[in-house]
Amino acid sequence: MKKTTLTLISLFAISMFVVSCGGGGQQNAEQQTVQATGPYSDLPADIQAMMPRGEEIYKTKCTVCHQTTGLGIESVFPPLAKADYLIADKVRAVAQTLNGSKIEMIVNGKKYTQEMIPQVDTKEDAVAVINYVLNNLGNKDGFVTLSEVANVEIKPRPAPAPAK
Ligand code: HEC
Repeated sequence: MKKTTLTLISLFAISMFVVSCGGGGQQNAEQQTVQATGPYSDLPADIQAMMPRGEEIYKTKCTVCHQTTGLGIESVFPPLAKADYLIADKVRAVAQTLNGSKIEMIVNGKKYTQEMIPQVDTKEDAVAVINYVLNNLGNKDGFVTLSEVANVEIKPRPAPAPAK
């Protein structure tokens, strides 16, 4: 008897779950972009919405040098985790991701001189990945908007190698 009651209760619970998840596609779409809780809940909706794209770019394009931890490789690939250089100028970080960088830089007290070639082709992608970095890898350093990078120039890409 007790067991039957429990089964009935769990069946009820499951059906309520199905009902509440099944309803209103529009509502679900909204929930995806505006999270009331979670790691990005303090960020504006448009920044939250770009996080999946930023994560995808980070994991496919950046980890080979900056590592999944964002710690980089000391004196070769600078860190993006708790990196003073990155936090100091977010617009510069977006520009470097777009256009690459070949300068001498000091990041967390270590010197870096290797070249980074351009990593992404659009400001949307560069802003998305930098916002992902600013809010992951142990970082919680705010965000950068597309309008803040309006004046960043997308430099011409190096010409592709001639076809043989
Ligand atoms: C092939 C290796 C490589 C890849 C891939 C790479 N980087 Fe870099 N990155 C570097 C190097 C080397 C530097 C230092 C460049 C310099 O000294 O001018 C650098 C510097 C940076 C900086 C400025 C330094 C800092 O610590 O803030 C940022 C921001 C950055 N990279 C972001 C990214 C992002 C985002 C991606 C992925 C979209 C990425 N990088 C992919 C090698 C790489």
